[in-house]
Formats: sequence, C-alpha cells, structure tokens
Amino acid sequence: MSVVLGINAVFHDPAAALVVDGQIVACAEEERFSRRKHGKEPVPFSTWEVPAESARWCLEQAGLEPGDVDVVGYSYDADLAPATASIMASEWEGLRTLYARRAPWFLATALPGLDPTAVRFVPHHIAHAASAYLASPHQTSAVMVLDGRGERSSYLGGAADGPQFRPLVRQDLPHSLGLLYEDLTEHLGFHRSSDEYKVMGLAAYGEPRFLPAMRRAITTTAGGFHVREVTWEDFAPRAHGDWSDQHADLAASVQARLEEVLLELGGWLHEATGAPALTIAGGVGLNCVANTRVWREGPFRDVWIQPAAGDAGTALGAALYVAAERGDEIEPMRSAALGRGWTDGELRDALTTARIAHDAPGDLAAEVAQLLADNQVVAWFQGRSEYGPRALGHRSLLADPRRRDNLERLNDVKGREQFRPLAPMVTLERAPDLFDGPLPSPYMTFTHRVREPWASQIPAVVHVDGTARIQTVDRNEEPLVAALLDSFERLTGVPVLINTSLNTAGRPIVDAPRDVLELFGSTPVDALAIGPYLARRNAARRMAAA
Ligand SMILES: [Fe+2]
Repeated sequence: MSVVLGINAVFHDPAAALVVDGQIVACAEEERFSRRKHGKEPVPFSTWEVPAESARWCLEQAGLEPGDVDVVGYSYDADLAPATASIMASEWEGLRTLYARRAPWFLATALPGLDPTAVRFVPHHIAHAASAYLASPHQTSAVMVLDGRGERSSYLGGAADGPQFRPLVRQDLPHSLGLLYEDLTEHLGFHRSSDEYKVMGLAAYGEPRFLPAMRRAITTTAGGFHVREVTWEDFAPRAHGDWSDQHADLAASVQARLEEVLLELGGWLHEATGAPALTIAGGVGLNCVANTRVWREGPFRDVWIQPAAGDAGTALGAALYVAAERGDEIEPMRSAALGRGWTDGELRDALTTARIAHDAPGDLAAEVAQLLADNQVVAWFQGRSEYGPRALGHRSLLADPRRRDNLERLNDVKGREQFRPLAPMVTLERAPDLFDGPLPSPYMTFTHRVREPWASQIPAVVHVDGTARIQTVDRNEEPLVAALLDSFERLTGVPVLINTSLNTAGRPIVDAPRDVLELFGSTPVDALAIGPYLARRNAARRMAAA
C-alpha cells in the first residue's frame, strides 16, 4: 500500500489531502474544522500552524494512523525562495521560509507517530499544477498556474503527458497578476487574498473605460508578463462599502485586462504544446469570468479547472505529485465531495440532541421541491462536504430562482453585499436548453449566458451582464440532487434552483451536523434537509415551546 498525505500550510487556506494507491480518499480544508474562515489570518500567514485536524481526519477516513504515512507532500519548498528572504530583508518573508523549513517538526508534533523524515517539499506551483493535470480527466494537457505568489514566481506554464510534467515558462515576482488583483480588491474595500470574487462580481456593473491604462500597466512578454505598479487613486478613490460607477469601471478594466493576458498566455501555451486541452489551477483560476473567456476565445477544445484552485488545492496537488513520482497510477477526481460525511444514525442523534422536530419523508426530493416551490428557503446537508470554495449540492442553501427578491432575501440571510449574484444548479441534460457555455460544468468554474426566454423566468440567478455561474448536476454522480431538480421542474416548469453556500457572513461553509443546526437555529431558513430527515421551522418552534 502506498500512503501519501498532502499538506498546505504556508499561505492561507490550510488543508490536507490523502491519496492511497493513487486514489483520492479524502480532502479537507482546516477552516471547516476550526471554523476560522480561510484557516488563519491573512497576514502574516502563520506558517507554524499546520492543518492538524483535517490531516488527522483524512487518515481516520482511511482507517490509517500517522505512522502509516509513507510520504508527506508539503506544498512549498523554502529552498526555492529568494536568498534575500531572510529575517533581515523582510520579517514575514524570513519567518515564512524559516517555519516552512521546520514543517517536518511541526507536522510530527501535531500528528504523533508521523516520521518527520517522510516530509517531501513540493514547489508551490508544481503542487498547483499537479492538482490540475493529475486530477483532470485529460491524459495530456497544457497547464496554466496563476496565483498571487509561490516561492519566487507567480506563473508557471507547462505541458503534461500522463504523470510527466514539463515546465515551459515561468514569471518571477514582483510581477504578479494575482497580487495586482489583490491590491485592487483591497482598494475597493474588500479583504485582500480572499475577496477577489467580489471584484469580479462588481466588474459586471462597469464599463472597462480604463482598459488602455491597464494595457500600459500590464504588458505581455514572450510567454510571460510584466506588471507596473498602479496608483489606484488615479482612477477611483478608495472604497468603503460605497461603490460608485467609477469603482465598477475600474474593476471592469482590470478584469478585462486580466482576461486579455490569460488569452495571450493560453495562446502561447497552445503553440508550445499543441495540446487540445488546458488545465488550470492557482487562485486566479477561481476567476470564472476569465476562465470562460479563455474557453470561448482561446485555441483549446477543452478547459478544465481544479475546483479547489486556490491554495487549499495544493494539498491535493502535492499528494498527487508525490504519488505519481512513486509510480502509483493516479485516478482522476470524479467529484469534489471529498470531505466529511455522517451516517443517518449520527444525523438523527444530532437532531434529537438539539430537540429539533423532524420526520423522514418517503420521497425527500419531492417534499423539498414542494417547499421550494412554495417559496421556502431550505438548508440542504447531504453526503460528504465539498473540497474548495463552492457548495455543490452537499452543503447548500436552496431557493426558488423565479422570484427576483430571493436574491435580496438570501443575501440578507448570508449577510452578503447586494450586488453579488446567486448561482443556479441544473441537471446536465437540461443545461444546454437554458445555458450557453462550457458543459459539463460540475464545479461552477465558468459563467454561462442565459438563453431566452429563460432569463426572465429565473431572474434571481441571472447576473447584471446576463450570465449565470452554473453547476451542472450529473445524475449518475448526484442522484438525489438530480431528483430534486426533476421534482421542482414537474411542479414549476423550471429545471433550475438557486444554490448558494450554506454559511453565514464571514463563517466557513458548514461541515458537521452541529454547524448546520447552529445555522438553522440562528437564521430565517424555513427548513433543513439533513440526510433523510426534514426539519421544518414551524414544527421546530412548536417543539421548543412544548
Ligand atoms: Fe498558490
């Protein structure tokens, strides 16, 4: 047996992944256990903290102990960091490399029995890359990794053929599309390193009238790019929750330039590799609008994006990379449902302990579809939790997309900004009738144009630019969610549901039953479908009163 544990601990989104004999057994982000969003504070990235709970759980899931681990893939190699990254040169840089070097010690302390000499440092961008080309269904692909930063670079492009990866091009710091986008995110009054998707949402409201300036600031080189420092105040004042057209225009301009540069990088990679498919990872890969433009206008027949494209995904990538190197035959990922799950008995016990009245309907999908058609909001907790930032029908908040005011209602439940769109789920068979864009799209990594006359029928999930970030549901993988969508269509004629992540403002997505019961108890959600059980708000109130 070949047991490889993957660990991401260096920047944000600490996570663990377990690959046994080339099979992905478990992947989980530490935030889902610790309930600290993104696992740690954004700065200074407390690299001494290791994702101990998620790592322990991954091993338990396979019935293994730390002593059974053959190799740990750690998604950062401090030896690649510039020599200037000493404590003298930059305090946090120096500490980060120092703590990364001590990772074997921190890991062995957190996971007693683990052999510290089993830790193998995998370069950050190699780990991102492996999470794309090894997890994707494509045997050969061009690979694009773009993020804020790795040890010393912000972009890696290469060619993958089976388990072999050939790096072709790299862009060193300080040039970084990810860091530029982070700077803009901060200027627009959001959290840097985590709220970039809000900038993407805001961009849809603007006109890219600063695009010429952005073209001067971000230029492409042979296969890479250069980024000049941008004085954001020249275009729009710093925002504090008071976004104007100017802010939207600035967001639109940077977004448009990012898309152009990605298209150029993709074109270069296509010429260099001749590969029909492009696989993508790194935080910039979460920009579903840019991904779609690469798919639509670029030379590749297929584009596949690792759903955990951010740093959490490097835990899986590091594990897969080491496993492939050991000669294990890698099985591509088929689903993002790689986190924790509970038995029906455990779920019933949790409901009983919390004194929440519930029943077990004969046809849960039909019952929940009826509630949704009656305009109720349903918390949907089923199976194993998702790896990556998107809820994909396992830890989801569901509602009726026909009513526009459900956008406001759900953004209120979740404490979200009102300009942010909600996303639809749809069965794979029905998707082409309603949506124009890359299919299948099981991980919400693209946006699709909503076809007429559907746009007017599902206003709650159509963004201001006429697009929707859809999740397609394959009934072989997700029979219960597909049955729910079928039932809802029978009742309403609409084969679409609003699907947003099951969490409240600033909190990680719920993971354990206790988390969802807390959410049910503290938010105006009407019903909770947890495993085979259904709890209704009014019935729950009656029981509490009794
Ligand atoms: Fe990264």
